[in-house]
Amino acid sequence: MRGNFSPGFNPGKGDYMEVPILLVDGVNKHFGGLVAVRDLSFGVQAGEVVGLMGPNGAGKTTLINVIAGEYKPDSGIVKFKGNDITGLPPHKICHLGIARTYQIPQPFAKLTALQNIAVAAIYGRGLSKSAAEGEAAEIIDIVRLSEKKDMPAGDLEEISLKRLELARVLATNPTLLMIDEVAAGLTEAEIPQVLDILREIHEMGITIILIEHVMKVMMKAVGRIIVMDEGMKIADGTPNEVMDNKKVIEAYFGSYIDRYDSK
Ligand SMILES: Nc1ncnc2c1ncn2[C@@H]1O[C@H](COP(=O)(O)OP(=O)(O)OP(=O)(O)O)[C@@H](O)[C@H]1O
Ligand SMILES: [Mg+2]
Repeated sequence: MRGNFSPGFNPGKGDYMEVPILLVDGVNKHFGGLVAVRDLSFGVQAGEVVGLMGPNGAGKTTLINVIAGEYKPDSGIVKFKGNDITGLPPHKICHLGIARTYQIPQPFAKLTALQNIAVAAIYGRGLSKSAAEGEAAEIIDIVRLSEKKDMPAGDLEEISLKRLELARVLATNPTLLMIDEVAAGLTEAEIPQVLDILREIHEMGITIILIEHVMKVMMKAVGRIIVMDEGMKIADGTPNEVMDNKKVIEAYFGSYIDRYDSK
């Protein structure tokens, strides 16, 4: 389906364009009196795998929703490939090449895994039914779900649902993929499988923003981590830099983070 760009799984390194593929500049988003995202700015270069971390309620999913067009920011700008996309509707942003997974996958329960992927290709890319089915057959291999292609999505177990969610977003042919907690709820043994799929997606040339609480995934998959707390960016650096950052340790104090567990 692709293959024009294969930097290898070398997140955080590579020959970057000067213009970031994604630029978030001074974004604010509040819900009533609650400021969910506060004056947030960062850039992502093409080919990067960037982690987005922060305690529960830090504003990570809200930020993804702003980038994907599901929420309009109160102020600030989002640029994709140098173009202002702030406030565009989600389907337009999807057509431009930005896709996102949902923290809780919601496939069509009665459709088979393959049909779910085909539907995403039809609506996300405007493919004909037969072209979408061909595309879906290729993508289902990438996420290693071929054996369950004819099962109704409603009968799939957690890991297969996560695979299907990744397949559905891949079917929209994204340039930038935002993945919201793909490893949550998976067993220890399933995590390497997810890492393999992420590696493969990155090797397809797709830039990735990865929200993840599972530190093992974060430390292995990303070259750079942005940490949010109470809507603000409190750190931005390599995984080791961020883990040694005093503000980050404070934000997570007493929480689930255990960097020694991730080694
Ligand atoms: N649609 C909404 N209406 C009102 N408040 C919201 C809405 N969406 C998010 N919030 C609030 O905004 C804050 C940030 O939530 P968000 O879901 O972005 O956090 P998160 O970092 O993704 O957390 P988690 O790790 O638990 O997924 C929280 O206080 C949340 O309750
Ligand atoms: Mg969230």
